[in-house]
Amino acid sequence: MKVFATKVIPELAKELFANQQVILDEWTGAQPISKEQLTGTLIQGGYDGLLVAGVKIDADIIDAVKATVKVISLLSVGFDNIDLEAATRAGIPVSNTPDVLNDATAQTAFLLMQNVARKAFYNYRRIMDGDWKSESFVKNLGQDLQGKTLGIFGMGSIGTVMAKLCKAAFNMDIIYHNRRPNKAAETQTAARYVSFETLLRQSDILSIHAALTPETTRIFNAEAFEKMKSSAIIINTARGKVIDEPALITALEQKQIWGAGLDVTDPEPMAPDNPLLKMENVAVLPHIGSATVHTRNAMGQLAAENMLLGLSGNRLKTIVNK
Ligand code: DGY
Repeated sequence: MKVFATKVIPELAKELFANQQVILDEWTGAQPISKEQLTGTLIQGGYDGLLVAGVKIDADIIDAVKATVKVISLLSVGFDNIDLEAATRAGIPVSNTPDVLNDATAQTAFLLMQNVARKAFYNYRRIMDGDWKSESFVKNLGQDLQGKTLGIFGMGSIGTVMAKLCKAAFNMDIIYHNRRPNKAAETQTAARYVSFETLLRQSDILSIHAALTPETTRIFNAEAFEKMKSSAIIINTARGKVIDEPALITALEQKQIWGAGLDVTDPEPMAPDNPLLKMENVAVLPHIGSATVHTRNAMGQLAAENMLLGLSGNRLKTIVNK
């Protein structure tokens, strides 16, 4: 059996393949593998399985490789980067890596929240620019987080961890909006379910943890920003496209909201001349939500287990096909 990975995967996961005599090849290019390169590689190499990180798998790729590829295992919890209908039509099981990255991703949201509230990146840039002279007592001030209202958009397992962190650290009041109320999260965090409109109007910190779907695409648009508090901070560790980025830039420029912390952007990578990178109350990270040693090992292991199950004709542990 042969598996192709679109990125280099953790050693721990490689060992799982080696133990089962499965040949693993990895894309090691500095740039992401292109659609044409990936399709050509999979067909020429006769790969049985595909491990996916950081690339889009559309219907063209699936149709071109379905004669050989029997399993697609994603190294992410999000599966908006694959045409799931096309995979299901082709009879290819697809899996993701839920839960193992809850803590790391929520901690990234928490990190961004504190960073923006205290303008940490901005002040660091000032030091690097030689601008640490005499600090004003009354200017360049941040925001306190104690007792604020945290709004969670998408109260799943990552949102629940973020809510717990904010409750424990800052005794925040938690409200959330989902397609459906999440009773387990309410019990664990004392969160209250509210409408999207109320979430926008009442949140001091609004943290996005929802999957990218047609319903959530650019749901944070100009109309939404107009409803938010002028002191609000928006945090996004989910997917860049949940926010209408030009509308966010305008909202920040016009001080409709106070700040933004983004681990995900639209597009990725963000262009180095993006105006967001120059703003005082904005912190941007290059999609590192799950990027810790422990979490990436756990993701690699789960993805490898799914692949091995699929290659031996068994049901994948965390299958996402309907
Ligand atoms: C995920 O697991 O979905 C992370 O955002 C990486 O894409």
